[in-house]
Amino acid sequence: MEGTAPEARKTARRASTPPQHVAIIMDGNGRWAQLRGRPRLFGHQAGARRVREIVRACPDLGVRYLTIFAFSTENWKRTQTEVAGLMRLFRRYIEKEARDLLESGVRVRFIGDRVRLEPRLVALMDFLEELTAENDRVHLTIALNYGGRDEVTRAARRLAHEVAAGRIDPDEVTAETLARFLDTCLLPDPDLVIRTSGEARISNFLLWQSAYAEYEFVDTLWPDFTAEEFAEIIARFGERERRFGGVKA
Ligand code: FPP
Repeated sequence: MEGTAPEARKTARRASTPPQHVAIIMDGNGRWAQLRGRPRLFGHQAGARRVREIVRACPDLGVRYLTIFAFSTENWKRTQTEVAGLMRLFRRYIEKEARDLLESGVRVRFIGDRVRLEPRLVALMDFLEELTAENDRVHLTIALNYGGRDEVTRAARRLAHEVAAGRIDPDEVTAETLARFLDTCLLPDPDLVIRTSGEARISNFLLWQSAYAEYEFVDTLWPDFTAEEFAEIIARFGERERRFGGVKA
């Protein structure tokens, strides 16, 4: 790299080894709104605009899979006003963005338990999944009423039914067998998990899948998280040495 112009060096760093799959815990919407003396939903609306920007940034950064944590199995504990506002925001996001997502090659999937979600939202989720099913440029997965423990529990329940029905031999059950029953069965494991807003915890997100993920905790509140900051994090990832429990080659 010595003697390389700064711009070329930057490009080379970005091109090195981008994470194939990035997962993001989009935290800090409430505090962002509070700092402006506005209701929490104002922060979530600003957060939705950032989702758009970050999804659009993925192809140039070499990120093929993006998974975002939109609503957790624990978020039902929030006020009825906030929960209803978030559900309305998810519906509007699908209605407003569907066409653009389709035309920009984004395939959308949802993970999480749909049983507790309102039918008109589930219908829109099904619609968007079907609409974008042929796309392959970027795979956007939105975790909605998602919890890692809940996902593993639901997977174990379905696996247990298969064993009880005699279709799976219990002695043949491996980690791969269980993974086939997870909501994420069609996705690679995340290489990088980002959490915004300065909190250093994973809050029940992709517990099984993130076993060997790298983590980035940044102080930025989600509505302030720009495509530039995302690109910097992706570049830093290229400098990490991943050993997956082994030793340095
Ligand atoms: C956490 O911030 C954020 C959420 C629970 C909601 C995430 C939702 C969005 C970013 C809205 C748009 C999403 C889509 C897919 C359209 P917080 O409210 O816990 O913030 P705080 O910790 O500052 O209170």
